[in-house]
Amino acid sequence: MARFREPLHVLRESAQGRVGVGLGGNVLVAAQLNGHAAYPLVATLPPLFPEWLGDRSFAETHGTRFPYVTGAMANGIATTDLVIAAARAGLLGFFGAAGLAYPRVEEALNRLEAALGGSGAPWGMNLIHSPNEPALEEAVADLYLRRGVTHVSAAAYLALTPAIVRYAVAGLHTDAAGKVQRRTHVFAKISRPETARHFLTPAPAAMLEGLLAQGKITAEQATLARRVPIAEDITVEADSGGHTDRQALTAVFPVIAQLRDELAAEHGYERPIRVGAAGGLGTPRSVAAAFSLGAAYVVTGSVNQSAIESGLSAEGKRMLAGAEMSDVIMAPAADMFEQGVEVQVLKRGTMFGTRAHRLLTAYRNYDGLDSVPADVRASLERQVLGVSFDEVRATTKAFWEERDPSQNVQAAADPKHEMALCFRWYLGLSSRWAIKGEPTRRLDYQIWCGPAMGAFNAWVRGSFLEAPEQRTVVQIALNLLEGAAAVTRAQQLRTYGAPIPAAAFRFSPRPLA
Ligand SMILES: Cc1cc2nc3c(=O)[nH]c(=O)nc-3n(C[C@H](O)[C@H](O)[C@H](O)COP(=O)(O)O)c2cc1C
Repeated sequence: MARFREPLHVLRESAQGRVGVGLGGNVLVAAQLNGHAAYPLVATLPPLFPEWLGDRSFAETHGTRFPYVTGAMANGIATTDLVIAAARAGLLGFFGAAGLAYPRVEEALNRLEAALGGSGAPWGMNLIHSPNEPALEEAVADLYLRRGVTHVSAAAYLALTPAIVRYAVAGLHTDAAGKVQRRTHVFAKISRPETARHFLTPAPAAMLEGLLAQGKITAEQATLARRVPIAEDITVEADSGGHTDRQALTAVFPVIAQLRDELAAEHGYERPIRVGAAGGLGTPRSVAAAFSLGAAYVVTGSVNQSAIESGLSAEGKRMLAGAEMSDVIMAPAADMFEQGVEVQVLKRGTMFGTRAHRLLTAYRNYDGLDSVPADVRASLERQVLGVSFDEVRATTKAFWEERDPSQNVQAAADPKHEMALCFRWYLGLSSRWAIKGEPTRRLDYQIWCGPAMGAFNAWVRGSFLEAPEQRTVVQIALNLLEGAAAVTRAQQLRTYGAPIPAAAFRFSPRPLA
């Protein structure tokens, strides 16, 4: 059913009312057959383009060709190369700035500006809520504003912070008709209504007053901010790699879309707010399903991590390419370890998930490193950390002495905090080992991954996209979109009563331009 770029005629085949399909644009229809035993025309479907699967205003507003976003992947796994390739193909890519030190974010900006500046191709950066490092979040938001970054993906926000509000509001101005326009676009990634609500409503008055008093926004911007939501692109994230509530997209998307409708009506916004879909999208059928739920755009993550442009090591990509859908596990998150927050990671080929759980269990059971019984300590040292508690202690202390000495002061007074810092040493490094491809730590690789990866692998088996060396972010995207258009076409025809074989819903990957 790949011929979705041409009109299709749906014809009645027989007196019993059976319906058939005329492929191509030149089928003779009843009227042209002058009363001969003809196939009466039931319906004509106009052409369908992958570009049209989402909300047309997405492409118009952001300057993309397709309603498709490559999501940010922390620690630079969504590389500048990935973002540049996406931009040149008419997609919107977000650089994975989370977890990177400020100078590396600056460096990435330099590269992106050099490659894409002035081309009109859109690209964006990630701004992650950093409750432990509010100064860094502020500094990065400030950097984005100074450097004229027009698209920011806001991640991990449970509530608004001055940094994200300032980024959104500092881009507001009016056009000749007095309509509020934006220079800065926030893509808010959410998986719960209560978080979505923050981004779907205008900035809180108290926060605007605070920013105004500090001279971080102008009086005009503060006034305009009352007429628009913080974000006009809300990404609903279902069961995904990394941080996830593991919601079913079919359950959560309609809830957020309805909330968007209610809040848009309540506030009387002048422009529609787009709701996009992320999480679990790794096949044409799932992308088609997201669009048929009403998604204005789709966001992929896990599948791009296995592409050649991703910053993950070759070994890590090979492990991803071998994953099946169920080869994922939830594991303690490095950044919110003490709170029991988890991330979804790859299970096959790495012991990270189970090893990290052993650290969490020890953290919960004991008051500090010195309270861990000798046998438990020995097994954690040997089987998980690979080094002694004392070595981890020394390394961790040296790390925080440079980064934030107050952590060491707190650790000296509270052995439980010291234990958390030491265990987080392992959780933090395990991601770096996977990125670098550290051969001695292969079984400790922490690779964020959702079920979309295994679904993708099953779909591309036997095709040119099977080998990770062939996977480019653009071929992945074009095939997902092209396939989603074919599936959508098959479904359209089915709803006209035409007998559509199961094969019509299958789309095999092929090199696409
Ligand atoms: C390795 C990896 C790192 C990620 N890092 C971030 C991040 O730093 N910020 C963010 O907003 N989302 C992050 N995500 C989520 C993706 O941007 C995307 O929303 C998600 O992966 C989509 O779901 P999927 O994995 O099922 O495709 C990450 C995902 C992966 C797989």
